Amino acid sequence: MLLIWWFWSLLAVCASDTFRDRAEAIMRTTPVIDGHNDLPWQLLTLFNNQLLDSKANLTTLEKTHTNIPKLKTGYVGGQFWSAYMPCDTQNKDAVKRILEQIDVIHRMCQLYPETFVCVTNSSDIMEAFKNGKVASLIGVEGGHLIDSSLGVLRTLYHLGMRYLTLTHNCNTPWADNWLVDKGDDKAESQGLSSFGKSVLNEMNRLGVMIDLSHVSVATMKAALQQSKAPVIFSHSSAYSVCRSRRNVPDDVLELVKNTNSLVMVNFYSEFVSCSSSATLSQVADHLDHIKNVAGPGAVGLGGDYDGVTKLPVGLEDVSKYPDLIAELLRRNWTEAEVRGVLAENLLRVFSEVELVSNNMQAPEEAPISLNELDGACRTHYGYSQAPSIHLQTGALVASLASLLFSLRLL
Ligand SMILES: *[C@@H]1O[C@H](CO)[C@@H](O)[C@H](O)[C@H]1NC(C)=O
Ligand SMILES: *[C@@H]1O[C@H](CO)[C@@H](O)[C@H](O)[C@H]1NC(C)=O
Ligand SMILES: *[C@@H]1O[C@H](CO)[C@@H](O)[C@H](O)[C@H]1NC(C)=O
Ligand SMILES: [Zn+2]
Repeated sequence: MLLIWWFWSLLAVCASDTFRDRAEAIMRTTPVIDGHNDLPWQLLTLFNNQLLDSKANLTTLEKTHTNIPKLKTGYVGGQFWSAYMPCDTQNKDAVKRILEQIDVIHRMCQLYPETFVCVTNSSDIMEAFKNGKVASLIGVEGGHLIDSSLGVLRTLYHLGMRYLTLTHNCNTPWADNWLVDKGDDKAESQGLSSFGKSVLNEMNRLGVMIDLSHVSVATMKAALQQSKAPVIFSHSSAYSVCRSRRNVPDDVLELVKNTNSLVMVNFYSEFVSCSSSATLSQVADHLDHIKNVAGPGAVGLGGDYDGVTKLPVGLEDVSKYPDLIAELLRRNWTEAEVRGVLAENLLRVFSEVELVSNNMQAPEEAPISLNELDGACRTHYGYSQAPSIHLQTGALVASLASLLFSLRLL
């Protein structure tokens, strides 16, 4: 009896080890490309971006979900580091602050060249895989961070931004956020305003991925309709599995499927189980659901590590990805499907975005009209002399108002 028990438990242990071993074998050649990690936000809030402070050493960093040894154990081979600034910077110092977060990511790459290499295209991600480095890319989280300026958008592209999340938890003058669907915010753009469509055209032209995590469902649909290239959700899960408005509903997953787009699943417990505790297996349920509705090519990982406070049991930090991959193998995902989730789906979308981009095409130039902007802290240079009155109704109204005001008629 004891012998039989011993035999079966040995068999169970071996079987589970097999999944874990297979996961690691796959990840040695196809490591994880994660869509969203907020370590740069931690570096700001813990160290005010002073990376040379010995407590900020990324090898020995302890209280964060992310450090260099954990990235190695987790087979992380590509990371979109989040350059994020909260919505209270909107109409204030958003642009200065986002430049500083982009700068801290560049300095991470400079300070730890044996671990990180900052890259900006898909072929250099592959190159980093071969060299055993963490390909480091920049995702800017929050459309408010371009301050409604196509010039700022282009400049952030030149600094390495390769995705822009169209909103964070606030509307911009040109796109609506998810709190609209929750009933906590008012719809303003009904999806995308006409300036919002110019922003998306310019992102397509430059080759910046359009990220729809945090946006309203109307904005998701408008963007999926407007974009000439596939889009991503850098850190969102499935609404059918957990009814949080930050997750992606099934009708949008259909559009994701039709456009070869990608949903990178968020591990935040509240988005996984709709409660403060969750498990690795529940994260796999989201992956299964997205795969069933949108196909295996639509699934990716965007853990949101260091951006959230509660994570599932079994996925506590960035070292745990192989356990999640083992669970997918246990659920009979094929090796090709698993390689897709790990990296190949993101590489496919990114390459398509690169192919659609076209530097020969004329850039979008028409600025947002003045009356669409919160004007409290702004100068209006350029607007009064702009060539086309038809594109400048806002400026016209504003100059008319100031004329009337100067005549004391208002
Ligand atoms: C971080 O700590 C490691 C191990 O103590 C050390 O080898 C490395 O030089 C430090 N790196 C920086 C940038 O301070
Ligand atoms: C990728 O970026 C690197 C560095 O900027 C550049 O040298 C390389 O030519 C680029 N590759 C492609 C295929 O665009
Ligand atoms: C996986 O496949 C095996 C063999 O075909 C089958 O016995 C098992 O029930 C499947 N497991 C799941 C979770 O589908
Ligand atoms: Zn986020």
